Amino acid sequence: MKQKEQTCIDLKTDRLLDRVNDLVERMTLSEKIGQMSQVTGMGGLTDNLRLAIQQGKVGSILNEVGLESLNEIQRIAMEESRLGIPLLIGRDVIHGFRTMLPIPLGQAASWNPELIKKGARMAAIEAASEGINWTFAPMIDITRDPRWGRIAETLGEDTHLTSVLGTAMVEGFQGEKLSQGDSIAACVKHYAGYGYSESGKDYAYVNISESELRNVVLPPFRACVDAGVATLMTAFSDLNGIPASGNEFLLKKVLREEWGFSGFVVSDWDAVKELKVHGFAEDNKMAAFEALQAGVDMEMVSTCYQGHIATLLREGLIEEKIIDQYVRNILRVKFELGLFENPYTKAADFPVSGNPEFLQIAKQAALESCVLLKNDYDKLPLRLENIQNLAIIGPMADDAYEQMGTWTFDGKEEWCQTPLQAIRAMVGDRVNIHVAKGLETTRTKNRDGFEAALEAARKSDTVLLFMGEEAILSGEAHCRADINLPGFQNELLKEIAQLGKSTVLVIMAGRPLTLGETKDYANALLYAWHPGTMGGPAIADLIFGKASPVGKTPVTFPKVVGQIPIYYNQRNTGRPTREEDITFMNDIPVRAAQTSLGNTSFHLDAGLEPLYPFGFGLSYTTFHYHNIQLSAEQINLGETLEIKVELSNTGSRAATEITQLYVRDIVGNITRPIRELKGFQQVHLAVGETKTIAFQLHTKDLAFYNRKMDLVTEPGQFNIWVGGDSNASLQASFWIKK
Ligand code: GLC
Repeated sequence: MKQKEQTCIDLKTDRLLDRVNDLVERMTLSEKIGQMSQVTGMGGLTDNLRLAIQQGKVGSILNEVGLESLNEIQRIAMEESRLGIPLLIGRDVIHGFRTMLPIPLGQAASWNPELIKKGARMAAIEAASEGINWTFAPMIDITRDPRWGRIAETLGEDTHLTSVLGTAMVEGFQGEKLSQGDSIAACVKHYAGYGYSESGKDYAYVNISESELRNVVLPPFRACVDAGVATLMTAFSDLNGIPASGNEFLLKKVLREEWGFSGFVVSDWDAVKELKVHGFAEDNKMAAFEALQAGVDMEMVSTCYQGHIATLLREGLIEEKIIDQYVRNILRVKFELGLFENPYTKAADFPVSGNPEFLQIAKQAALESCVLLKNDYDKLPLRLENIQNLAIIGPMADDAYEQMGTWTFDGKEEWCQTPLQAIRAMVGDRVNIHVAKGLETTRTKNRDGFEAALEAARKSDTVLLFMGEEAILSGEAHCRADINLPGFQNELLKEIAQLGKSTVLVIMAGRPLTLGETKDYANALLYAWHPGTMGGPAIADLIFGKASPVGKTPVTFPKVVGQIPIYYNQRNTGRPTREEDITFMNDIPVRAAQTSLGNTSFHLDAGLEPLYPFGFGLSYTTFHYHNIQLSAEQINLGETLEIKVELSNTGSRAATEITQLYVRDIVGNITRPIRELKGFQQVHLAVGETKTIAFQLHTKDLAFYNRKMDLVTEPGQFNIWVGGDSNASLQASFWIKK
């Protein structure tokens, strides 16, 4: 075994940069390339892996799990390599580690940054307790295309909401200090534009203007960089012909020069090698060149850097000072994590994963993620005293694995409580429960289980149906061209509806589904996304009124897939229309004259409106917004406008409302969206209570990138709305003066 050479790193120097520079000066080229290489575990500590670590050829490992193995891997790096540089241990801790939170799209429906931060903190503690020190999260891609499976991992369609919730996740993962021991480095991804994948297929071409990038897609990344995120991950995407992992505009001009990012960038899995597949590089050597040239500090899994950096240097295609800079970026994060001083993990330093406090966080996250989309005649909450027989039907009623959703590599299925289990625990023997799956899985296309399900429904006065998508139908590479309920779920729902029972439909899915027809066959519709470990108790509490639904849609629900892309902050177009002005296809008179329908922007067979708009969610009470007041009718650039509104609980239950502030810049140097979310807050009101809500709007909050790509706020008129969803009607206007 090569004697470990004293690294003479003065661990006491308090200038982190000195420590980094001191170390880089001692590194061989091979060791530098090692730091820029992330290998995949999963195979355990093989001889090859051990040797590579001893030779300083591994800077990071991902997908190796198990405290004993990871501590041993760190020990080899610290004690058996020449310089003793600890490894970054990466894992996709996307929405929980052992205790699963709702999928990120579900968490986003809570519109609750404090709760989301708490969830990320819990996930960080559970992951850190098993030796993980780097997560590839939060995923903050903006998308308006629910065909794309990865919408499940996003925080929704809106730039402001994603910016606020994304930074909350970063803060949760990274804690007060990266070096506090139970923090893990966060990694915002996928930089950038991945959510605009053509036709909602994963990894597809992305054709997006710089204006759309700067005004819609990049601001959440900027917000997370400003919040101190340690790392970013490049997207697989071919972005306007220049793949993100070879895109100097993104990685150098924007990220480093404009934003001053000082962490490091890791490619996505094999994304450097895939530059050749894209046809952007002729071979692996030139793929390495393009990625280096663009600014990718670390290569995930593929070995273009390992195999070709030395040649690129020898051929003078790149300079070693570039390599040194990338290595410094990586080492800085390792020092900030405190890995040189504390490379090992002691389980005893951490709370037990899955403890009651963590389960309560997961339950609260699931509670606030559920969105009540329909509730005819106040069907919900159910009143136990009125129920003797309750049918619980559907493939998602009792499936712990499926309710965790996508990206649950390490989730503990056995900790999950399903809706059936939770309802049984809640109602005990006070109610006769009749259970029938009706369909084996969400994709089952036969009626074998229908009769048993109909029989259970016939015996009951209330039917609870649990339907949706299995976890595999969303997430990476799992895109759908038709986003109806899969299988024969609609068929089962329709047959049950014909029995005339009180029917509540709970949907668990990784995306908004097209429920235009489905919703008509249930009296109430609760959307639970994939709610995670405590989905069952949360749904049971909501159904039986122990809690009131708070959630609001973080993404628009289309009526039919043909409306996609459909989102609230559309442009006005030169020929806007209103739903009330539309003649639908079936109502068009025979031989109608060509221009008789008007020439405006809508679909003959779907109209203009979505099924459910962005920001929508019902409550068990009703709210009334009134008396909007502005602190001024006009303000100067650089000033702040205060908007006050009175919100009253006009219903029969105490509840929480997520109030939303939308703005429209009437005329701009480029066209501006008809509405943009600029603020939101949770307000809790007792029955009959009225509160005054105040929003502060600074002129810089209204800035956008204009034709010249300058970030400006322009003088002019602005409209403001405050309400409970993106169709808010309580309106006011103000001016910004020159
Ligand atoms: C995957 C995903 C990325 C993930 C990485 C590591 O392909 O695109 O989001 O973090 O590889 O698993």
